[in-house]
Amino acid sequence: MEKYKLIAMSGSLRKQSFNTALLHSIIELARDDFDVDIVSIELPLFNDDLIDPDEPEEVASLKQTIREADGLLIVTPEYNHSIPGVLKNAIDWLSLEPGTPLRDKPVMIAGASPGLLGTARCQIHLRQVFATNRANVLPGNEIFVTHCKGKIDDSGLHDEQSITQIKKTLSEYYKWIEFWKRNAKN
Ligand SMILES: Cc1cc2nc3c(=O)[nH]c(=O)nc-3n(C[C@H](O)[C@H](O)[C@H](O)COP(=O)(O)O)c2cc1C
Repeated sequence: MEKYKLIAMSGSLRKQSFNTALLHSIIELARDDFDVDIVSIELPLFNDDLIDPDEPEEVASLKQTIREADGLLIVTPEYNHSIPGVLKNAIDWLSLEPGTPLRDKPVMIAGASPGLLGTARCQIHLRQVFATNRANVLPGNEIFVTHCKGKIDDSGLHDEQSITQIKKTLSEYYKWIEFWKRNAKN
């Protein structure tokens, strides 16, 4: 089976981030089918004026990296019932036409929160933002790691129910990428 190349972003810059730890566990669970590279989303604050004459080098390079990947994996916390600013800032940079690398890109989303809803509200907003950019977010297959303080530690994710859900979602995501590749050829 062909291994797909994913670019991954954590929506948290925190060193002890639950979401970055979750991302590393997802990468481990995905390793038979996917090669995953984590990219930094520490970009300048979006400003249309910075695009003229050229966008910042790190933005151009991130766009190219995503363009070359088979899919984009987002693992993020929820801030104030929505998308953390640092991640939204990166998406705003990536969304610019011409040549947004988000267009037609298969996207998978996951998140962890110490709370009851496990980033559900943020993920709804992300789906809306990606739809605007005509990215192909994997339908259904939502990964919400709720009450994550008891499930994720320094060595990663230890919750069997979440692990089962992630494995199932990764398998669906593989098929989702395959589907869009077939579709693109026809
Ligand atoms: C500014 C801010 C807003 C937050 N808003 C939410 C929220 O709306 N929903 C939620 O579940 N947790 C919220 N939290 C708590 C985060 O889920 C928690 O800090 C989590 O550990 C952040 O993810 P990380 O560990 O990956 O950095 C918020 C935290 C911060 C700092």
